[in-house]
Amino acid sequence: MNSPVIQGIHLNAPSYVKNARLIAWVADMVALTKPDAIYWCDGSDEEYQRLCQQLVDAGTFTKLNPAKRPNSFLACSDPSDVARVEDRTYICSENRDNAGPTNNWMAPADMRALLQTGKAGEKALFDGCMKGRTMYVVPFSMGPLGSHIAHIGIELSDSPYVAVNQRIMTRMGKAVYDVLGVNGAFVPCVHTVGAPLEAGQADVKWPCNKTKYIVHYPETREIWSYGSGYGGNALLGKKCFALRIASNMGRDQGWLAEHMLILGVTNPAGKKYHVAAAFPSACGKTNFSMLVPPEAGFAGWTVTTIGDDIAWVKPHADGKMYAINPEAGYFGVAPGTNMHTNPNCMRSLDKNVIFTNVALTDDGDVWWEGMEKDGGGLPDHLIDWQGKDWTPAIAKETGAKAAHPNSRFTVAATNNPALDPEWDNPNGVAIDAFIFGGRRSTTVPLVTEARSWMEGVYMAATMGSETTAAAVGQMGVVRRDPFAMLPFCGYNMSDYFQHWLDMEHKLEESGHTLPKIYCVNWFRKGDDGKFVWPGYGDNMRVLKWMIDRIEGTAKGTATGFGVAPQYGEINWTGLDFSQAQFDSVTSLDKDAWKQEFTLHAELFTQLAHHLPKELVATKAQLEQNLAV
Ligand code: OXD
Ligand code: MN
Repeated sequence: MNSPVIQGIHLNAPSYVKNARLIAWVADMVALTKPDAIYWCDGSDEEYQRLCQQLVDAGTFTKLNPAKRPNSFLACSDPSDVARVEDRTYICSENRDNAGPTNNWMAPADMRALLQTGKAGEKALFDGCMKGRTMYVVPFSMGPLGSHIAHIGIELSDSPYVAVNQRIMTRMGKAVYDVLGVNGAFVPCVHTVGAPLEAGQADVKWPCNKTKYIVHYPETREIWSYGSGYGGNALLGKKCFALRIASNMGRDQGWLAEHMLILGVTNPAGKKYHVAAAFPSACGKTNFSMLVPPEAGFAGWTVTTIGDDIAWVKPHADGKMYAINPEAGYFGVAPGTNMHTNPNCMRSLDKNVIFTNVALTDDGDVWWEGMEKDGGGLPDHLIDWQGKDWTPAIAKETGAKAAHPNSRFTVAATNNPALDPEWDNPNGVAIDAFIFGGRRSTTVPLVTEARSWMEGVYMAATMGSETTAAAVGQMGVVRRDPFAMLPFCGYNMSDYFQHWLDMEHKLEESGHTLPKIYCVNWFRKGDDGKFVWPGYGDNMRVLKWMIDRIEGTAKGTATGFGVAPQYGEINWTGLDFSQAQFDSVTSLDKDAWKQEFTLHAELFTQLAHHLPKELVATKAQLEQNLAV
């Protein structure tokens, strides 16, 4: 054991931790945050079980009925701590321009004063923030251990909930230190729930603080998170590292960190394609990544999951772009998930799951809205996510949801019956196409293929989507969400567009083949307010058309906004979907597009500083194409 004593606490670093920078940093953080104890996670199953039991004893976890849901737990959070807090999320670059107009910014020195060093007369937020608690040292690899595409992080957290979730969501444990070695680099991540305990003070089930800061220093690649226990704010490997910090790494090192699922699709002849697809939060990435092709018309086709939320994509010497999923688990939205929308996901949730903010059934199992469609109807009684009685009558009268709309499951990728055999391949998988999609009840067609990389970047950059419960704020309003990265791009969005545009020249110069780019919208509604496109498994029909385009067997039809499928090019076997319905999800309405281009212009005005000129030229070209 390496055991300097800091303010009465033995550091107790295990002998296999040999990285001097790491040990010095942990010592500094102990001195700042003043935990009562320090615990170095080894990632073992024994440790996971012990920490889960500790969470049960503390009242944070309820153990679910082992006969129904073996080795699974339910956590219900404080009602104020249920989603990502975008207005409390900061990119503290040295220069304000580098954060850009879409990120909150504070000068690093000012933020450090607030969090770490204190300002005149005021105590820093992290000073003593872990008092009365244990600091967990959580070593994790984003990506297969030792992969040249992977990166290591160490999270210090005073939340055992974070430690157990990180074990599912990342490759977490002892082996990370072997990869890190004596001199290896890691991203330091500090997380606190911001609720120090005085001696003898009883803890609450879900400690958090109404003050929240989710802070990134892109130049020094550091993450500091204060006040929230919610996954997206607290599991720092995910949005904070794998997207906000990694997008900075990608820009500097010539690769892409994207809010994308990765799937494999294999045709009956055994030929396999890989697709990476970006959709905003809670718009069906998990469902799409686990898609089950329709039985009729798709015999012999399979879809397999590599990742459901994040992709790191790097150009490779063989001329292709390779993607890995940096995560090892899924932190998915529960409501709406059922045997129709995502049977593979439902099967993944049979055992070894942590649920957060779903409802508890009277027989010790979990329930969320959407499950009634699996044949059981509505349960007679539940305990809702806030611990209150829920019955169908109460729901009818008050509109109360049994599960919070952003309630989640945390589950290992290895639980997924559709897991791709290559999901853990350190070299990743070669990407054939990128897909970008938003949630739009009008305007945007079902699918179009960009005629050039430039046009694809334009489609992705100007993407809009109706907001969901994944972030605190109003739901259902259309906001621009470029590349589905609005809340996750860790630097100036216009520079990010430029980075995507530069890829074309860089890759072509080095003999690379660029993946095709598609724009999709599963969410068009008819005059009756209902979705026209059936979605879910039927999205396979669109995926198949994309593959036909890649193979050059579908001609498509040129539109003002890319190449669209002809009705006859889609495999309709087993689905009654008329030409009129098809037209209603693919039509380009001139007035709607006129309005849409006004919104693109607003975005471009907001992002004017550094905005690539080619995007403005492409807009003019598209306006001309669509004659709006
Ligand atoms: C997520 C999100 O949790 O995008 O994946 O909010
Ligand atoms: Mn996401």
